[in-house]
Amino acid sequence: MSNLPLAIVSHALPNDWLAMLKDRCQLLIGPAELEAHLSEAEGLFTLLTLRVDEVLLSRAQRLRVVSNMAVGVDNVDVAACTRRGIPVGNTPGVLTEATADLTMALLLSAARRLPEASADAREGRWATWTPTAWLGADLNGATLGIVGLGRIGLAVATRAKAFGMQIVYANRNANQEAEQTLRASRLSLDDLLRQSDFVSLHLPLSSETRRLIDERALRLMKPTAILVNAARGGVVNMTALHRALSEGWIAGAALDVTDPEPLPADHPLYRLPNCLITPHIGSATRGARKRMAELACENLLAGLEGKPMPHCVNREVYNR
Ligand code: GLV
Repeated sequence: MSNLPLAIVSHALPNDWLAMLKDRCQLLIGPAELEAHLSEAEGLFTLLTLRVDEVLLSRAQRLRVVSNMAVGVDNVDVAACTRRGIPVGNTPGVLTEATADLTMALLLSAARRLPEASADAREGRWATWTPTAWLGADLNGATLGIVGLGRIGLAVATRAKAFGMQIVYANRNANQEAEQTLRASRLSLDDLLRQSDFVSLHLPLSSETRRLIDERALRLMKPTAILVNAARGGVVNMTALHRALSEGWIAGAALDVTDPEPLPADHPLYRLPNCLITPHIGSATRGARKRMAELACENLLAGLEGKPMPHCVNREVYNR
């Protein structure tokens, strides 16, 4: 029997993404192993699809570290981990550029109606070129409102600037870098919603941000505006969004995240031509996902070896 600590990876991942765990812990991989051995696990490597809540934690009496392979940790009851002295790791930074690229892809696709136009060509409805067919929204000169100017919001703003967009943002704190280098202006959320041609959400999901974009917020937006969400689905009230899109309060939405996930196949949002939905692929590039896994391994090993994690969301556990 080895003396190495037992760690469970909640879902199968490519071997080379987990290479650094080899020889440094006993590793069990997959949901069945999780179910069978949770009570013995000292380390848990999780994905955002696994709910780490009181119920799971109470079964994991030996747990010393949770390492989430995501920047968002809304799937983890961080307060419950903190009460147990368990550090929780996340993976910021390494997915910033990939997620910002996807956000721009969503924004551009919605602005130029790519899914609908592509379906028209593919399905044989393309009769001829006409001057007024498929008119979309201009980016150059349009105002992009960024709600939550963290790393990803800033990377989106930098890209949007290169497309000639004016940047406004709503954030708890002012961001001097964005104001100086991108000439971004900080607004209240309501003013941002009123003034923006595109609104892009980059907030973590928390009790303060849940359903922040509700009926009231959507009614403040311009009827020509497009909402982009590559953050968390729960930040938007999906029922209100459906009404906003079907009744013309706003022009379109592009969502990489929904509430719930997966969004059921019969959800009415899929039937709206002005709503583009992708299945939570913001960080899904080969480079970003591998770096996320590696950073999650580094966090896990640090936790197992009693060292501070490179990225920990509840550092207060170290001060006890
Ligand atoms: C993805 O959504 C993440 O939080 O990393």
